[in-house]
Amino acid sequence: MRQFPNDFLWGVATSAYQIEGATSADGRGESIWDRFAATPGKISDGSDGKVACDHYHRWREDVELMRWLGVKSYRFSMAWPRVLPTGRGKVNAAGLDFYSRLVDGLLEAGIEPFVTLYHWDLPQALQDQGGWPSRDTASAFVEYADAASRKLGDRVKRWITHNEPWCISVLGYGNGEHAPGHKNWSEVLATAHHLLVSHGQAVPVIRANVKNAQVGITLNLSPAWPASPSAEDEEACRRHDGSFNRWFLDPLYGRGYPKDVVEDYIQDGHLASPTLDFVREGDMATIAVPTDFLGINYYSRAIMRSDRIPESQNAPRTVHPEPERTDMDWEVYAPALTRLLQHLHTHYQPGPLYITENGCAYATGPGADGKVHDDKRVAYLRSHLEASLEAIRQGVPLAGYFAWSLLDNFEWAFGYQKRFGMVYVDYDTQRRIPKDSAHLYKALVEKNGLDVELAA
Ligand code: FCB
Repeated sequence: MRQFPNDFLWGVATSAYQIEGATSADGRGESIWDRFAATPGKISDGSDGKVACDHYHRWREDVELMRWLGVKSYRFSMAWPRVLPTGRGKVNAAGLDFYSRLVDGLLEAGIEPFVTLYHWDLPQALQDQGGWPSRDTASAFVEYADAASRKLGDRVKRWITHNEPWCISVLGYGNGEHAPGHKNWSEVLATAHHLLVSHGQAVPVIRANVKNAQVGITLNLSPAWPASPSAEDEEACRRHDGSFNRWFLDPLYGRGYPKDVVEDYIQDGHLASPTLDFVREGDMATIAVPTDFLGINYYSRAIMRSDRIPESQNAPRTVHPEPERTDMDWEVYAPALTRLLQHLHTHYQPGPLYITENGCAYATGPGADGKVHDDKRVAYLRSHLEASLEAIRQGVPLAGYFAWSLLDNFEWAFGYQKRFGMVYVDYDTQRRIPKDSAHLYKALVEKNGLDVELAA
């Protein structure tokens, strides 16, 4: 029997800007994603989050979908500009009430809310004052965390401070693919640092407001595989792992910023000197505050090939990507998830781990029978849950799994062209159609195990 532990937390995940719409309802302020999406050329299909899945108005129907799925928990994010339209100061009660109603609806449906505070929609007013490269944004975040946890803390016990600091810093401020669209490496490391400091400062604030709080952070991690056993490819892996994974994990678990990566940044011209001038006294201890869990978003591995020597001088590739790739062009490779979980557990001992996102983009829509036969997502889901169970068998305290995503939604710079949902969304009518993967997930959750056949 391939069973999960009895208390395994089965869930689905979404984020505010990707599903809510209603971007000017009830006093919501502008976010950097509203501004970014309104800038020509930034979103590949020219779309934005103004309507998205209209979840702001249809949340009851979406809670019903989750009740039908049988999930035990729902990971969603709060839109900071709904709560504090200009980022700090006076709380917008109407905005906060939306989440309060949603939480009540979830609890009535027997679904535990799992709240992410920051999933990328910074109030534009804060960006106008400098955004994440400015330390003031960290203190504004703590005020926001305080307001949110004060209001919801009687009912919401599980809190994630930030979603994916790597994406926020590198994609937002380094290569400009995400809001606010800056291309300025000098802002990247300050952003990452202020995100981590604000996490460390928010944890005790949330704990003070919430009895029996469980607080953590979510990282997107990218396990690196060398394309060949050559020293150069191993070195490419070290670098990738350093900037992507260790730059965040090491400080969170008390080791400070990795020195080898500081050297890499100097070599690459991203840093002028080994002195990280944005670090203030006490920051590293603040960042390393003990947490209750680590959230991991896993989608794919990275196969690393050195760009430091000509291809002809490198050893022949021995590792090749699997032929299966999703619409994001991400390789489907589940064994990397087991290895990642095992590595985190043995190397950092973060305590309980949650997979806070895992999923795949395939455009499959309704067929002639009106159903959505998303076989590739079904296969992806099965193989990654298999990999998760394998990690548990090896002794990793994996406590839950959140499928990304409940609904097809606004996939950032790709607009609505990438569909990650287990539930299909017809954007013209807002009709929701559970895909085959949703039917499978429902059966898996019910069984709490993998020995489930999908009815034709
Ligand atoms: C992650 C994001 C999430 C979604 C998935 C596909 O990086 O956290 O919002 O876009 O990727």
